[in-house]
Amino acid sequence: GTGNNDNQPRHFLDLALIEAPVLRRILDQAARFKRAGRSAARPLAGRSLALIFEKPSTRTRVSFEMAMRGLGGDVVMLSSREMQIGRGETVADTARVLSRYVDAIMLRTDREAKLRELATYATVPVINGLTERSHPCQVMADVLTFEERHGPISGQTVAWIGDGNNMAKSWIEAAARFGFRLNLACPAELRPDAAAVAWAEAAGANIVLTEDPDAAVADARCVVTDTWVSMGDDDAERRHNLLAGFQVNERLMARASKDAIFMHCLPAHRGEEVSAGVIDGPQSVVFDEAENRLYAQQGILAWALGG
Ligand code: CP
Ligand code: NVA
Repeated sequence: GTGNNDNQPRHFLDLALIEAPVLRRILDQAARFKRAGRSAARPLAGRSLALIFEKPSTRTRVSFEMAMRGLGGDVVMLSSREMQIGRGETVADTARVLSRYVDAIMLRTDREAKLRELATYATVPVINGLTERSHPCQVMADVLTFEERHGPISGQTVAWIGDGNNMAKSWIEAAARFGFRLNLACPAELRPDAAAVAWAEAAGANIVLTEDPDAAVADARCVVTDTWVSMGDDDAERRHNLLAGFQVNERLMARASKDAIFMHCLPAHRGEEVSAGVIDGPQSVVFDEAENRLYAQQGILAWALGG
């Protein structure tokens, strides 16, 4: 659902499925929660969130738990390996059962189809905690981080360098929703999701695809990259070969806007997709991004569970 139909749970599945004004309100609320810090009210007291992980996580796991507790709510942490779903119980039945116990469900999965099935059968909001195709919670935190440094992101330029992966897809959708220009430099073999690019362009987004990192970073006020080998990728050697020329290092950052910030959702691999000098240097905001997961997700939870 879009979240605009009050008969449907307010699922947070992808940025393309939620209207721009709703996303903006979520970010405004996130900024208010950040300003309030630990003195924030407890709007989710008595509410509960189940977190299901089919893949590893450090940030998503801890930030969702602390975000929910910070708003007064409870969490149940679940690993699919320890659930009946790991022995073949259907996603649909799992959705119907969990909906009787908790007020919202977050899923991190290796198959987007499972997220969609969960959302179809759950009667409570379902939140995308990363799939092989997208990672919208991270990009909400990243837009919050950008705006803390550079003001409204609308009309500004962001450069994505490297693999056209799940993070790239959510950045593409964000470009349409938040109205910024997105230059993506990816090897031809690892181009981002063509349907996502077509959707964003139809929605009025300014997306530029290139294979030249130098061209992509020109005038960019933010340079973003991600790991060359995502969870579930089984072709690490091929990816290292294809992406060897796509490292974000001091030479590349020098071609971006002078005040450009560097972003990475983490976990990072120094000496591969990013040099140590950049990720540990003054332009890096990677730990602000990690921190802002807390507040972006508080905004998402308050919206999803709100009246
Ligand atoms: N960035 C991010 O989602 O990190 P985790 O895999 O640690 O959750
Ligand atoms: N693209 C990475 C992001 C990790 C947060 C992956 O899917 O493994």
